[in-house]
Amino acid sequence: MSSAPRRYHVTTFGCQMNKADSERMAGILETMGMAWEEDPLQADIVLYNTCTIRDNAEQKVYSYLGRQAKRKQTNPNLTLVVAGCVAQQEGEKLLRRVPELDLVMGPQHANRLQDLLEQVMNGNQVVATDPVHIMEDITQPRRDSEVTAWVNVIYGCNERCTYCVVPGVRGVEQSRTPEAIYAEMEALGRQGFKEVTLLGQNIDAYGRDLPGITAEGRRQNTLTDLLYTVHDIPGIERIRFATSHPRYFTERLIQACAELPKVCEHFHIPFQSGDNDVLKAMARGYTHEKYRRIIDSIREYMPDAAISADAIVGFPGETEEQFQRTMQLVDDVGFDLLNTAAYSPRPNTPAALWDNQLSEAEKSDRLQRLNHLVGLKAAERSQRYANRVEQVLIEDVNPKDPSQVMGRTRGNRLTFCTGDITHLKGQLIDVQITEVRPFSLTGVHLVPAHA
Ligand code: SAH
Ligand code: SF4
Ligand code: F3S
Repeated sequence: MSSAPRRYHVTTFGCQMNKADSERMAGILETMGMAWEEDPLQADIVLYNTCTIRDNAEQKVYSYLGRQAKRKQTNPNLTLVVAGCVAQQEGEKLLRRVPELDLVMGPQHANRLQDLLEQVMNGNQVVATDPVHIMEDITQPRRDSEVTAWVNVIYGCNERCTYCVVPGVRGVEQSRTPEAIYAEMEALGRQGFKEVTLLGQNIDAYGRDLPGITAEGRRQNTLTDLLYTVHDIPGIERIRFATSHPRYFTERLIQACAELPKVCEHFHIPFQSGDNDVLKAMARGYTHEKYRRIIDSIREYMPDAAISADAIVGFPGETEEQFQRTMQLVDDVGFDLLNTAAYSPRPNTPAALWDNQLSEAEKSDRLQRLNHLVGLKAAERSQRYANRVEQVLIEDVNPKDPSQVMGRTRGNRLTFCTGDITHLKGQLIDVQITEVRPFSLTGVHLVPAHA
Protein backbone atom coordinates (compact mmCIF):
# COMPACT_ATOMS: atom_id res chain seq x y z
CA MET A 1 0.00 0.00 0.00
CA SER A 2 1.46 3.37 -0.93
CA SER A 3 0.31 6.68 0.49
CA ALA A 4 0.75 10.06 -1.18
CA PRO A 5 3.82 11.92 0.05
CA ARG A 6 3.27 14.62 2.64
CA ARG A 7 3.37 18.05 1.06
CA TYR A 8 5.38 20.87 2.60
CA HIS A 9 5.46 24.62 2.17
CA VAL A 10 8.17 27.05 3.27
CA THR A 11 7.63 30.83 3.46
CA THR A 12 10.77 32.89 4.00
CA PHE A 13 11.03 36.35 5.54
CA GLY A 14 14.17 38.40 6.01
CA CYS A 15 17.67 38.41 4.66
CA GLN A 16 19.76 36.27 2.31
CA MET A 17 20.95 34.24 5.27
CA ASN A 18 17.38 33.18 5.97
CA LYS A 19 16.85 32.37 2.29
CA ALA A 20 19.92 30.14 2.36
CA ASP A 21 18.65 28.42 5.53
CA SER A 22 15.24 27.88 3.90
CA GLU A 23 16.84 26.20 0.91
CA ARG A 24 18.69 23.83 3.23
CA MET A 25 15.59 23.05 5.27
CA ALA A 26 13.56 22.44 2.09
CA GLY A 27 16.35 20.08 0.97
CA ILE A 28 16.02 18.15 4.25
CA LEU A 29 12.24 17.87 3.81
CA GLU A 30 12.74 16.51 0.29
CA THR A 31 15.21 13.88 1.47
CA MET A 32 12.56 12.90 4.02
CA GLY A 33 10.31 12.11 1.04
CA MET A 34 8.09 15.16 1.12
CA ALA A 35 6.93 17.12 -1.92
CA TRP A 36 6.77 20.89 -2.42
CA GLU A 37 3.31 22.51 -2.20
CA GLU A 38 2.99 26.06 -3.49
CA ASP A 39 -0.15 26.90 -1.51
CA PRO A 40 0.52 27.23 2.24
CA LEU A 41 -3.16 26.55 2.94
CA GLN A 42 -2.97 23.15 1.21
CA ALA A 43 0.32 21.90 2.68
CA ASP A 44 0.54 19.19 5.38
CA ILE A 45 3.64 20.75 6.88
CA VAL A 46 4.08 24.51 6.93
CA LEU A 47 7.36 26.13 7.89
CA TYR A 48 7.70 29.88 8.43
CA ASN A 49 11.32 30.99 8.42
CA THR A 50 11.02 34.29 10.24
CA CYS A 51 12.78 37.66 10.59
CA THR A 52 12.72 40.09 13.50
CA ILE A 53 15.04 42.85 12.32
CA ARG A 54 12.20 45.39 12.66
CA ASP A 55 8.86 45.21 14.39
CA ASN A 56 6.85 45.07 11.14
CA ALA A 57 8.84 42.01 10.03
CA GLU A 58 8.03 40.26 13.30
CA GLN A 59 4.33 41.13 13.23
CA LYS A 60 3.90 39.70 9.75
CA VAL A 61 4.42 36.14 10.93
CA TYR A 62 1.76 36.36 13.64
CA SER A 63 -0.95 37.10 11.09
CA TYR A 64 0.17 34.15 8.95
CA LEU A 65 0.23 31.89 12.00
CA GLY A 66 -3.27 32.88 12.99
CA ARG A 67 -4.71 31.41 9.80
CA GLN A 68 -2.70 28.20 10.10
CA ALA A 69 -3.67 27.75 13.74
CA LYS A 70 -7.31 27.90 12.71
CA ARG A 71 -6.70 25.32 9.98
CA LYS A 72 -5.08 23.03 12.48
CA GLN A 73 -8.22 22.94 14.62
CA THR A 74 -10.00 21.01 11.84
CA ASN A 75 -6.89 19.27 10.48
CA PRO A 76 -4.92 17.76 13.36
CA ASN A 77 -2.39 16.19 10.94
CA LEU A 78 -1.09 19.60 9.97
CA THR A 79 2.46 20.20 11.24
CA LEU A 80 3.31 23.83 12.05
CA VAL A 81 6.93 24.99 12.31
CA VAL A 82 8.34 28.42 13.15
CA ALA A 83 12.04 28.68 12.34
CA GLY A 84 14.48 31.58 12.13
CA CYS A 85 14.99 34.73 14.12
CA VAL A 86 11.53 35.24 15.69
CA ALA A 87 11.69 31.62 16.87
CA GLN A 88 15.05 32.28 18.51
CA GLN A 89 13.91 35.55 20.07
CA GLU A 90 10.59 34.33 21.44
CA GLY A 91 11.33 30.63 22.12
CA GLU A 92 8.77 29.04 24.43
CA LYS A 93 6.73 32.24 24.54
CA LEU A 94 5.64 31.41 20.99
CA LEU A 95 4.02 28.18 22.20
CA ARG A 96 2.01 30.12 24.73
CA ARG A 97 0.95 32.60 22.09
CA VAL A 98 0.16 29.94 19.45
CA PRO A 99 -0.43 26.60 21.24
CA GLU A 100 -1.06 24.88 17.89
CA LEU A 101 2.65 25.07 17.03
CA ASP A 102 4.59 21.81 16.80
CA LEU A 103 8.13 23.08 16.49
CA VAL A 104 9.96 26.32 17.29
CA MET A 105 13.56 26.28 16.08
CA GLY A 106 16.28 28.94 16.01
CA PRO A 107 18.53 29.53 12.99
CA GLN A 108 21.43 27.57 14.48
CA HIS A 109 19.24 24.46 14.37
CA ALA A 110 18.35 24.60 10.66
CA ASN A 111 20.51 21.58 9.83
CA ARG A 112 18.78 19.54 12.56
CA LEU A 113 15.30 19.80 11.05
CA GLN A 114 14.90 16.06 10.42
CA ASP A 115 15.88 15.17 13.95
CA LEU A 116 13.52 17.75 15.39
CA LEU A 117 10.60 16.65 13.18
CA GLU A 118 11.10 13.07 14.32
CA GLN A 119 10.63 14.25 17.90
CA VAL A 120 7.43 15.99 16.76
CA MET A 121 6.20 12.77 15.10
CA ASN A 122 6.67 11.05 18.44
CA GLY A 123 4.06 13.37 19.86
CA ASN A 124 6.21 16.14 21.34
CA GLN A 125 5.97 19.89 21.09
CA VAL A 126 9.59 20.90 20.53
CA VAL A 127 11.55 24.11 21.19
CA ALA A 128 15.14 24.17 19.90
CA THR A 129 16.81 27.46 20.74
CA ASP A 130 19.96 26.53 22.69
CA PRO A 131 23.17 27.98 21.30
CA VAL A 132 24.96 25.18 19.46
CA HIS A 133 28.03 24.66 17.40
CA ILE A 134 26.68 24.61 13.84
CA MET A 135 27.38 21.25 12.28
CA GLU A 136 28.98 21.17 8.87
CA ASP A 137 26.12 20.96 6.44
CA ILE A 138 25.98 17.69 4.56
CA THR A 139 22.43 18.17 3.32
CA GLN A 140 21.57 18.93 -0.27
CA PRO A 141 19.72 22.25 -0.39
CA ARG A 142 16.71 22.68 -2.65
CA ARG A 143 17.96 25.82 -4.37
CA ASP A 144 15.50 28.32 -5.84
CA SER A 145 17.74 29.12 -8.81
CA GLU A 146 19.69 26.81 -11.11
CA VAL A 147 22.14 29.57 -11.98
CA THR A 148 23.02 31.49 -8.82
CA ALA A 149 23.60 30.12 -5.33
CA TRP A 150 24.22 31.33 -1.78
CA VAL A 151 27.09 29.85 0.17
CA ASN A 152 27.38 30.60 3.89
CA VAL A 153 30.91 31.30 5.00
CA ILE A 154 30.36 32.69 8.50
CA TYR A 155 27.36 32.38 10.79
CA GLY A 156 26.45 34.78 13.60
CA CYS A 157 27.85 38.20 14.53
CA ASN A 158 30.11 39.40 17.35
CA GLU A 159 29.37 43.11 16.85
CA ARG A 160 27.12 44.92 19.29
CA CYS A 161 25.40 47.60 17.23
CA THR A 162 23.03 49.12 19.77
CA TYR A 163 19.92 48.82 17.55
CA CYS A 164 20.38 45.29 16.27
CA VAL A 165 18.84 41.92 17.17
CA VAL A 166 21.13 39.82 14.98
CA PRO A 167 23.86 38.95 17.54
CA GLY A 168 21.14 37.90 19.98
CA VAL A 169 19.31 35.65 17.54
CA ARG A 170 22.16 34.37 15.35
CA GLY A 171 24.73 33.82 18.09
CA VAL A 172 28.50 34.18 18.01
CA GLU A 173 30.61 34.11 14.86
CA GLN A 174 31.32 30.64 13.49
CA SER A 175 33.35 30.40 10.29
CA ARG A 176 33.15 27.39 8.02
CA THR A 177 36.50 25.99 6.97
CA PRO A 178 37.90 26.97 3.56
CA GLU A 179 37.85 23.24 2.68
CA ALA A 180 34.11 22.92 3.33
CA ILE A 181 33.37 26.09 1.36
CA TYR A 182 35.59 24.94 -1.49
CA ALA A 183 33.86 21.54 -1.61
CA GLU A 184 30.39 23.11 -1.71
CA MET A 185 31.38 25.50 -4.49
CA GLU A 186 33.06 22.75 -6.48
CA ALA A 187 29.84 20.73 -6.34
CA LEU A 188 27.88 23.80 -7.45
CA GLY A 189 30.23 24.25 -10.42
CA ARG A 190 29.70 20.63 -11.42
CA GLN A 191 25.92 21.03 -11.17
CA GLY A 192 26.01 23.95 -13.61
CA PHE A 193 25.73 26.92 -11.24
CA LYS A 194 27.50 30.01 -12.59
CA GLU A 195 27.43 32.50 -9.75
CA VAL A 196 28.02 32.21 -6.01
CA THR A 197 27.35 34.83 -3.33
CA LEU A 198 29.36 34.22 -0.19
CA LEU A 199 27.30 35.14 2.87
CA GLY A 200 27.95 36.46 6.34
CA GLN A 201 26.29 39.16 8.51
CA ASN A 202 29.76 40.63 8.93
CA ILE A 203 31.67 38.83 6.24
CA ASP A 204 34.89 40.72 6.95
CA ALA A 205 35.04 38.77 10.22
CA TYR A 206 35.45 35.57 8.23
CA GLY A 207 38.20 33.35 9.66
CA ARG A 208 38.78 35.25 12.92
CA ASP A 209 37.75 32.11 14.80
CA LEU A 210 39.88 29.80 12.64
CA PRO A 211 43.51 29.01 13.47
CA GLY A 212 46.45 30.14 11.34
CA ILE A 213 49.11 32.86 11.15
CA THR A 214 51.36 33.30 8.12
CA ALA A 215 55.18 33.37 8.28
CA GLU A 216 54.99 37.20 8.11
CA GLY A 217 52.75 37.20 11.17
CA ARG A 218 49.56 37.96 9.25
CA ARG A 219 46.30 36.21 10.11
CA GLN A 220 45.48 33.50 7.63
CA ASN A 221 42.00 32.55 6.46
CA THR A 222 40.74 36.08 5.91
CA LEU A 223 37.96 36.80 3.42
CA THR A 224 40.68 37.93 1.00
CA ASP A 225 42.49 34.60 1.34
CA LEU A 226 39.20 32.79 0.81
CA LEU A 227 38.55 34.67 -2.45
CA TYR A 228 41.92 33.52 -3.79
CA THR A 229 41.25 29.96 -2.59
CA VAL A 230 37.90 29.56 -4.35
CA HIS A 231 38.54 31.75 -7.38
CA ASP A 232 39.49 29.12 -9.93
CA ILE A 233 36.75 26.58 -9.22
CA PRO A 234 35.64 25.30 -12.64
CA GLY A 235 32.19 26.35 -13.83
CA ILE A 236 31.76 29.20 -11.34
CA GLU A 237 32.08 32.37 -13.44
CA ARG A 238 31.10 35.03 -10.92
CA ILE A 239 31.69 35.52 -7.22
CA ARG A 240 30.02 38.06 -4.94
CA PHE A 241 30.05 38.52 -1.17
CA ALA A 242 27.93 40.30 1.44
CA THR A 243 27.62 42.00 3.92
CA SER A 244 30.73 44.13 4.36
CA HIS A 245 31.39 46.10 7.55
CA PRO A 246 33.21 49.44 7.15
CA ARG A 247 35.05 48.87 10.42
CA TYR A 248 36.94 45.87 9.04
CA PHE A 249 36.96 46.44 5.28
CA THR A 250 40.61 46.33 4.08
CA GLU A 251 42.58 47.74 1.19
CA ARG A 252 43.93 44.24 0.63
CA LEU A 253 40.37 43.06 -0.04
CA ILE A 254 39.82 45.88 -2.54
CA GLN A 255 43.04 44.95 -4.35
CA ALA A 256 41.98 41.30 -4.50
CA CYS A 257 38.59 42.24 -5.98
CA ALA A 258 40.31 44.37 -8.61
CA GLU A 259 42.76 41.60 -9.43
CA LEU A 260 40.46 38.57 -9.48
CA PRO A 261 38.39 38.56 -12.68
CA LYS A 262 35.52 36.45 -11.34
CA VAL A 263 34.89 38.71 -8.35
CA CYS A 264 32.19 41.18 -9.42
CA GLU A 265 32.77 44.88 -8.85
CA HIS A 266 29.75 45.23 -6.60
CA PHE A 267 30.02 46.10 -2.91
CA HIS A 268 27.31 46.10 -0.27
CA ILE A 269 28.64 48.22 2.59
CA PRO A 270 26.00 49.58 4.98
CA PHE A 271 26.89 52.93 6.56
CA GLN A 272 23.71 53.35 8.68
CA SER A 273 24.29 57.09 9.35
CA GLY A 274 26.33 59.97 7.95
CA ASP A 275 26.82 61.56 11.38
CA ASN A 276 29.75 60.64 13.61
CA ASP A 277 27.91 61.06 16.92
CA VAL A 278 25.03 58.88 15.73
CA LEU A 279 27.55 56.30 14.48
CA LYS A 280 29.13 56.35 17.91
CA ALA A 281 25.78 55.87 19.66
CA MET A 282 25.15 52.96 17.28
CA ALA A 283 28.57 51.51 18.29
CA ARG A 284 29.50 51.08 14.64
CA GLY A 285 33.21 51.72 15.17
CA TYR A 286 33.95 54.06 12.22
CA THR A 287 33.42 57.65 11.13
CA HIS A 288 31.76 58.92 7.96
CA GLU A 289 35.25 60.07 6.86
CA LYS A 290 36.53 56.51 7.05
CA TYR A 291 33.50 55.29 5.14
CA ARG A 292 34.11 57.84 2.39
CA ARG A 293 37.77 56.80 2.18
CA ILE A 294 36.72 53.18 1.61
CA ILE A 295 34.41 54.21 -1.24
CA ASP A 296 37.11 56.44 -2.76
CA SER A 297 39.61 53.63 -2.58
CA ILE A 298 37.20 51.18 -4.25
CA ARG A 299 36.59 53.68 -7.04
CA GLU A 300 40.31 54.29 -7.49
CA TYR A 301 40.84 50.60 -8.20
CA MET A 302 37.48 50.00 -9.93
CA PRO A 303 36.06 53.30 -11.22
CA ASP A 304 32.80 51.70 -12.31
CA ALA A 305 32.12 49.65 -9.15
CA ALA A 306 28.50 49.47 -8.03
CA ILE A 307 28.00 50.45 -4.40
CA SER A 308 24.96 49.58 -2.32
CA ALA A 309 24.30 50.12 1.37
CA ASP A 310 21.78 50.22 4.22
CA ALA A 311 20.85 53.26 6.28
CA ILE A 312 18.67 53.90 9.31
CA VAL A 313 16.83 57.17 9.93
CA GLY A 314 15.35 58.35 13.22
CA PHE A 315 17.81 56.59 15.51
CA PRO A 316 17.21 57.71 19.13
CA GLY A 317 18.34 61.31 19.58
CA GLU A 318 18.98 61.92 15.86
CA THR A 319 18.58 65.67 15.22
CA GLU A 320 17.49 67.22 11.93
CA GLU A 321 21.09 68.35 11.45
CA GLN A 322 22.41 64.83 11.97
CA PHE A 323 19.82 63.46 9.56
CA GLN A 324 21.03 66.05 7.01
CA ARG A 325 24.52 64.52 7.25
CA THR A 326 23.04 61.19 6.14
CA MET A 327 21.36 63.02 3.22
CA GLN A 328 24.68 64.67 2.41
CA LEU A 329 26.53 61.34 2.38
CA VAL A 330 23.91 59.84 0.06
CA ASP A 331 24.17 62.88 -2.20
CA ASP A 332 27.98 62.76 -2.26
CA VAL A 333 28.52 59.01 -2.71
CA GLY A 334 25.78 58.24 -5.23
CA PHE A 335 24.67 54.73 -4.35
CA ASP A 336 23.39 52.32 -6.95
CA LEU A 337 20.98 50.98 -4.37
CA LEU A 338 20.23 51.97 -0.79
CA ASN A 339 18.02 50.01 1.60
CA THR A 340 16.51 52.51 3.99
CA ALA A 341 14.59 51.96 7.20
CA ALA A 342 13.08 53.94 10.04
CA TYR A 343 14.61 52.94 13.35
CA SER A 344 12.53 50.29 15.11
CA PRO A 345 13.15 49.60 18.83
CA ARG A 346 13.91 45.89 19.28
CA PRO A 347 13.72 43.58 22.30
CA ASN A 348 16.99 43.03 24.19
CA THR A 349 18.85 45.84 22.42
CA PRO A 350 20.33 48.82 24.32
CA ALA A 351 18.95 51.62 22.12
CA ALA A 352 15.37 50.45 22.65
CA LEU A 353 15.63 51.47 26.33
CA TRP A 354 16.92 55.01 25.76
CA ASP A 355 14.57 57.84 26.57
CA ASN A 356 15.35 59.96 23.49
CA GLN A 357 13.16 58.07 21.00
CA LEU A 358 11.76 60.00 18.04
CA SER A 359 8.08 60.03 17.16
CA GLU A 360 6.82 57.75 14.40
CA ALA A 361 5.76 60.86 12.44
CA GLU A 362 9.29 62.28 12.55
CA LYS A 363 10.85 58.99 11.54
CA SER A 364 8.53 58.44 8.61
CA ASP A 365 8.97 62.03 7.42
CA ARG A 366 12.76 61.54 7.32
CA LEU A 367 12.39 58.19 5.64
CA GLN A 368 10.29 59.74 2.88
CA ARG A 369 12.78 62.52 2.30
CA LEU A 370 15.69 60.09 2.17
CA ASN A 371 13.87 57.73 -0.20
CA HIS A 372 13.12 60.60 -2.55
CA LEU A 373 16.82 61.44 -2.73
CA VAL A 374 17.76 57.77 -3.16
CA GLY A 375 15.48 57.50 -6.21
CA LEU A 376 17.02 60.60 -7.79
CA LYS A 377 20.57 59.39 -7.18
CA ALA A 378 19.90 55.86 -8.44
CA ALA A 379 18.38 57.29 -11.64
CA GLU A 380 21.52 59.39 -12.05
CA ARG A 381 23.79 56.37 -11.47
CA SER A 382 21.78 54.31 -13.95
CA GLN A 383 22.49 56.81 -16.74
CA ARG A 384 26.07 55.61 -17.01
CA TYR A 385 24.79 52.34 -18.46
CA ALA A 386 23.01 53.94 -21.43
CA ASN A 387 24.29 52.52 -24.74
CA ARG A 388 26.98 50.52 -23.00
CA VAL A 389 27.57 46.83 -23.58
CA GLU A 390 27.16 44.92 -20.32
CA GLN A 391 27.88 41.29 -19.55
CA VAL A 392 24.64 39.75 -18.21
CA LEU A 393 24.23 36.33 -16.60
CA ILE A 394 20.80 35.09 -17.67
CA GLU A 395 18.83 33.59 -14.79
CA ASP A 396 15.20 33.30 -15.88
CA VAL A 397 12.31 34.53 -18.02
CA ASN A 398 10.92 37.96 -17.26
CA PRO A 399 7.76 37.03 -15.32
CA LYS A 400 6.05 40.10 -16.77
CA ASP A 401 6.98 39.37 -20.40
CA PRO A 402 7.62 35.77 -21.49
CA SER A 403 9.34 36.94 -24.71
CA GLN A 404 12.11 38.38 -22.54
CA VAL A 405 14.83 36.87 -20.38
CA MET A 406 16.38 38.52 -17.34
CA GLY A 407 19.64 38.48 -15.47
CA ARG A 408 22.14 40.71 -13.73
CA THR A 409 25.12 42.77 -14.77
CA ARG A 410 28.39 42.37 -12.88
CA GLY A 411 27.31 45.46 -10.91
CA ASN A 412 24.12 43.58 -9.94
CA ARG A 413 21.68 45.68 -12.04
CA LEU A 414 18.64 43.67 -13.08
CA THR A 415 18.59 43.61 -16.91
CA PHE A 416 16.00 42.44 -19.45
CA CYS A 417 16.38 41.58 -23.13
CA THR A 418 14.46 39.66 -25.80
CA GLY A 419 15.49 36.01 -25.95
CA ASP A 420 14.64 32.37 -25.44
CA ILE A 421 15.28 31.05 -21.94
CA THR A 422 15.79 27.46 -23.09
CA HIS A 423 18.92 28.55 -24.92
CA LEU A 424 20.06 31.36 -22.67
CA LYS A 425 19.59 30.15 -19.10
CA GLY A 426 22.94 30.19 -17.32
CA GLN A 427 24.69 31.93 -20.23
CA LEU A 428 26.87 35.02 -19.90
CA ILE A 429 25.82 37.23 -22.79
CA ASP A 430 26.63 40.71 -24.04
CA VAL A 431 23.70 43.10 -23.88
CA GLN A 432 23.69 46.56 -25.41
CA ILE A 433 21.70 48.74 -23.03
CA THR A 434 18.90 50.67 -24.72
CA GLU A 435 16.71 51.76 -21.79
CA VAL A 436 17.71 52.76 -18.27
CA ARG A 437 15.46 52.97 -15.22
CA PRO A 438 16.63 53.76 -11.65
CA PHE A 439 16.93 50.13 -10.61
CA SER A 440 16.80 48.10 -13.85
CA LEU A 441 17.90 48.12 -17.49
CA THR A 442 16.66 46.85 -20.86
CA GLY A 443 18.84 46.03 -23.83
CA VAL A 444 19.52 43.99 -26.93
CA HIS A 445 21.41 40.69 -26.95
CA LEU A 446 24.51 41.09 -29.13
CA VAL A 447 25.02 37.74 -30.81
CA PRO A 448 28.69 37.22 -31.64
CA ALA A 449 29.30 37.12 -35.41
CA HIS A 450 30.46 33.73 -36.69
CA ALA A 451 33.51 33.55 -38.91
N1 SAH B 1 25.13 42.91 9.17
C1 SAH B 1 24.71 43.98 8.39
C2 SAH B 1 23.21 44.23 8.37
C3 SAH B 1 22.31 43.37 9.13
S1 SAH B 1 20.64 43.84 9.33
C4 SAH B 1 25.43 45.24 8.83
O1 SAH B 1 26.18 45.24 9.76
O2 SAH B 1 25.21 46.26 8.23
C5 SAH B 1 20.17 44.62 7.82
C6 SAH B 1 19.85 46.07 7.99
O3 SAH B 1 18.70 46.27 8.74
C7 SAH B 1 20.90 46.89 8.69
O4 SAH B 1 21.95 47.22 7.87
C8 SAH B 1 20.14 48.08 9.19
O5 SAH B 1 20.17 49.11 8.24
C9 SAH B 1 18.73 47.55 9.32
N2 SAH B 1 18.36 47.45 10.73
C10 SAH B 1 18.88 46.62 11.67
N3 SAH B 1 18.30 46.82 12.86
C11 SAH B 1 17.38 47.79 12.69
C12 SAH B 1 16.45 48.45 13.56
N4 SAH B 1 16.37 48.14 14.85
N5 SAH B 1 15.65 49.39 13.02
C13 SAH B 1 15.73 49.73 11.72
N6 SAH B 1 16.57 49.14 10.85
C14 SAH B 1 17.40 48.19 11.33
FE1 SF4 C 1 23.69 43.78 13.42
FE2 SF4 C 1 25.85 45.28 13.61
FE3 SF4 C 1 26.09 42.62 13.48
FE4 SF4 C 1 25.32 43.99 11.35
S1 SF4 C 1 27.30 44.14 12.36
S2 SF4 C 1 24.41 42.11 12.12
S3 SF4 C 1 24.09 45.63 12.21
S4 SF4 C 1 25.16 43.81 15.15
FE1 F3S D 1 16.05 39.11 9.78
FE2 F3S D 1 17.37 37.29 11.08
FE3 F3S D 1 18.23 38.11 8.73
S1 F3S D 1 16.42 39.05 11.95
S2 F3S D 1 17.53 40.21 8.62
S3 F3S D 1 16.35 37.04 9.12
S4 F3S D 1 19.47 37.55 10.47
